Amino acid sequence: MAYLCEKMAENFKKIIRSETFRKKLYGWNLKENDRKMPWKGEKDPYKIWISEIILQQTRVEQGLKYYNKFISEFPDVHKLASAPEKKVFKLWEGLGYYSRCRNMLTAAKFISNNLNGRFPDSYEKILSLKGVGTYTASAIASFAFNLPYPVLDGNVFRILARIFGISLNPRNTSGKKVFQALANYLLDKKNPGLYNQAMMDFGALVCRPKSPLCHQCVFNKICYAYLHNLTEQLPIRNIKKPGRKRLFIFLVAEYKNELAIERRTNKDIWQNLYCFPYVEWHTDINDEKEVVSLLQKKLKVKFRKTYSLTPTYIQQLSHQTIHARFFRADVKEKINNYIWITKSKLKDYPFPGVINRFLDDPHFFKKV
Ligand code: ADE
Repeated sequence: MAYLCEKMAENFKKIIRSETFRKKLYGWNLKENDRKMPWKGEKDPYKIWISEIILQQTRVEQGLKYYNKFISEFPDVHKLASAPEKKVFKLWEGLGYYSRCRNMLTAAKFISNNLNGRFPDSYEKILSLKGVGTYTASAIASFAFNLPYPVLDGNVFRILARIFGISLNPRNTSGKKVFQALANYLLDKKNPGLYNQAMMDFGALVCRPKSPLCHQCVFNKICYAYLHNLTEQLPIRNIKKPGRKRLFIFLVAEYKNELAIERRTNKDIWQNLYCFPYVEWHTDINDEKEVVSLLQKKLKVKFRKTYSLTPTYIQQLSHQTIHARFFRADVKEKINNYIWITKSKLKDYPFPGVINRFLDDPHFFKKV
């Protein structure tokens, strides 16, 4: 690998020397980069970790709200580790990928209980934390401890693919090796945190996915994609396989002003979130009578009064497309093994996005 990297570095050098690359990047960073974010310049590895985990999920603008909420509720790792799970998941609501929230909690408990709250300070130890991959480990190692690890996120892949004309897939092993070698070559080993942050900001502000600002870009004299009119084509896109389609019919069962919900504990989507009783079905059903009979039979419940079936709400997850319909009914008696809560308590429980959309929909329901 080291030999391969050296060989590749020879080729990269022909395009631009690493010192020149950094000089141009820092010139831009100093003069033009006015991006302000609370985690920028932050040295507390706990806060950096939280920001990076959130930013894996969402764009910076949206991530800011979550970051501020998390840090004000859980200002240190002990506070996060000892918080009730329901509260943490509630704060995570809307970000998706709930397994990441679970991993974050596992790592927080490990640091709090086994390391006395001291965040690990080497790349390997950071990488061994649950839910931390090479990207996050490099970000924490460089920002908090000034360790020489380049971050390779979507922004960085895009910058490198365009400037150096790399039409390899950064997500597969052979492609990743080239990007990694190039990133190592360019990294400012003395100031890795400053360099990594400047790269991410440059990718977000100038070398943007759509309509990059090539005319004012400090690399436009050497950028392969710009000079060959290939900015639209680089980096090459990941072709996503369509996910599995799943149909859920949720029963919003009401008994004396209380609704039935359950906590999802199975190894399936939405683990640790809450949902209404449901039947998962293989074909779309439009006939309400069929829905009534299916729900009553499968959930062993009797309806006293029924309301209409909602249209389909769709939620795209990473590997699945969820089609959800909701059916409201007053039931004759409480169904066993569910949690029964009043409507006003709904807001205290974390629900999947598709259920929240239904709960916020004034046509069919309204959270009080
Ligand atoms: N995306 C992920 N981490 C980031 C950071 N530290 N700054 C800007 N964007 C990011």
